[in-house]
Amino acid sequence: MGWKEFGRVKISVVGTGYLGATHAACMARLGHDVLGVDVDEAKVSKLRSGEMPFYEPGLEELTREMIGAGKLQFSSSFAEAAEFADVHFIAVGTPQRRGEFAADTSALDSVIASLAPVITRPSVILGKSTVPVGTAADLRSRAQSLSPAGDQLELGWNPEFLREGHAIKDTLEPDRLVLGVADGADPRVEAAAREVYGDLLERGVPFLVTDLATAELTKISANAFLATKISFINAIAEVCDAAGADVVTLADAMGYDTRIGRAFLNAGLGFGGGCLPKDIRAFMARAGELGAAQALTFLREVDNINMRRRTQMVEMAKQSCGTLLGSRVAVLGAAFKPNSDDVRDSPALNVAGQLQLRGAAVSVYDPKAMENSRMLFPTLGYSASVLDACENADVVLVLTEWDEFRNLDPDSLAGVVRQRQIIDGRNCLDPATWTDAGWKYRGFGRAASR
Ligand code: UGA
Repeated sequence: MGWKEFGRVKISVVGTGYLGATHAACMARLGHDVLGVDVDEAKVSKLRSGEMPFYEPGLEELTREMIGAGKLQFSSSFAEAAEFADVHFIAVGTPQRRGEFAADTSALDSVIASLAPVITRPSVILGKSTVPVGTAADLRSRAQSLSPAGDQLELGWNPEFLREGHAIKDTLEPDRLVLGVADGADPRVEAAAREVYGDLLERGVPFLVTDLATAELTKISANAFLATKISFINAIAEVCDAAGADVVTLADAMGYDTRIGRAFLNAGLGFGGGCLPKDIRAFMARAGELGAAQALTFLREVDNINMRRRTQMVEMAKQSCGTLLGSRVAVLGAAFKPNSDDVRDSPALNVAGQLQLRGAAVSVYDPKAMENSRMLFPTLGYSASVLDACENADVVLVLTEWDEFRNLDPDSLAGVVRQRQIIDGRNCLDPATWTDAGWKYRGFGRAASR
């Protein structure tokens, strides 16, 4: 079967979370005919009406546009997906297993168990989820044995590198595309990927074809490297605090070295979200299974440095208030990063929870993540605006670097707080602006600016 006959490829994207919903809309944007598939009927009916179950800048608009253009549909039926599409992307989650470091790949297993048996013609499955190395080879043989199409059903691994908050741009203008194919696999896998990503390849996006294991490992290694970079600068921030130096200037100066680069050297409350924390743990667990545990013991320290940021922030808040018991703490930010409503393993919410447990009256405000925060931590105090959250506060904590917080005016906030104390958990404020306005400013690794 020649893929060239598909100028527009018929694609299904299974799993409509952050990754899948973005991928589905973006594939439609590239001109393909796309069916988004999810077992969650409620999600499917929301998506059908163009409503996003989460916040991602521009995605709701793009999804509506693609639905309107007849390029994007949603379904909960695997049979419909098998009938409709020639290429099936799998974009389901692989969260951390409860009480373990390893990744839970059961959603992938069940997609293969439901989809493969209904695929009756030559087709290609491309996995996008982040998986323990070895998973793709295993899924491939299971898919081929379950499908009436047998080895006419091929499976490759095409990891995704998109960031929440920048998901559309990262999908339509990726730094690179990686495709893992099995040894001796049918060339249709690569042909299908080239067809799907034809536009991007024409624009010169690097395309690396590897074996399955290398593709799987590339993704998790990239995330482990990013996590390590963040923990590196956070460790240096601790030394800056001890030595009276400024980590922001230091990171700027280091970042000019093109071998190092400035990105991901922002010291602060550290990394959270649905990817980096669970990925470094799953990576350690998998290396252990492979007998290579020692190679990744440094990731334990990366994790430790990261988690220490949260307790350190609680300590700084306590120092500012004298005692947390009975003090009022304003928490600005709940999402794990700006331009997202995702609160999975959010450092900000974790700190808010710890402060409350230690007796502080906590008031949380976030521009987008209020609803998700309430669901996760229903007992925390929530406010409808920055000013409400800061009313009579003994200390204000900026824990997610939303623009709304970066642009805060120290003078207008001064009128509502009890004490003019601010802790900049993301090093996103200008210390001089705040100290000049009579505030006590503290950041991470910013001893020199106190
Ligand atoms: C991360 C990767 O950056 C993506 O490339 C990858 O595709 C994605 O995981 C995934 O595996 O799906 P994401 O979780 O959206 O993307 O968020 P990041 O932008 O990586 O930020 C992660 C955390 O690190 C955030 O809490 C952020 O505040 C923190 N961070 C980031 C810092 O503390 N300092 C920095 O300098 C950068």
